[in-house]
Amino acid sequence: MAEENIQQTLVLIKPDGLVKSLTGNILTALSETKLIIAGAKIVQVDRELAEKHYNKLREEKGDEIFEEVLKYIQGHYHTNRVLALVYQGENAISKVREIAGETNPEKASPISIRGKYGRIVSSTGVFENVVHCSDSEENAEREIKIWFKPDELSNIMYPTEEKTTTKTELSWKEEVE
Ligand code: TYD
Repeated sequence: MAEENIQQTLVLIKPDGLVKSLTGNILTALSETKLIIAGAKIVQVDRELAEKHYNKLREEKGDEIFEEVLKYIQGHYHTNRVLALVYQGENAISKVREIAGETNPEKASPISIRGKYGRIVSSTGVFENVVHCSDSEENAEREIKIWFKPDELSNIMYPTEEKTTTKTELSWKEEVE
């Protein structure tokens, strides 16, 4: 039997996807992959996280597009939330990208998520393409580590270590017994 290539990949349902109530449609489309969901959470994206996630885009597309994409993912045009998910399974990266479609919604297959629901903003040329998904094993690892802590994932694929920190964390004032 051929060796299995189990991968994890990061999926973001971007602010336009949430505002357009597309979460159900997107999750249904992705369920066709038969992958498992290994992590899921709502994140309010700040500039630091947005810059880290799109670290290569400035040199690739220039300052103007980079700044617009940062505003878009931080929710300046829709809502300040994204739904971050980790999908896992055999060839997860290409399976999810196939269903998501090409980056440019006008070039994406009309039956892909981006082809169906994405748009190009006429004033800026920015692609509001509803979802993000990792494009390589290297980027999947980088992105999963940016968005998730190991204990937020049901399956941990990358090496971990225990670190004792003195970080102050918000907790419930009245704990449930
Ligand atoms: P990129 O990482 O190239 O694509 P993908 O999200 O498919 O991996 O680009 C990141 C985001 O930047 C993309 O989802 C939408 C936006 N973008 C534009 O608005 N215009 C562009 O020309 C490109 C390349 C990206």
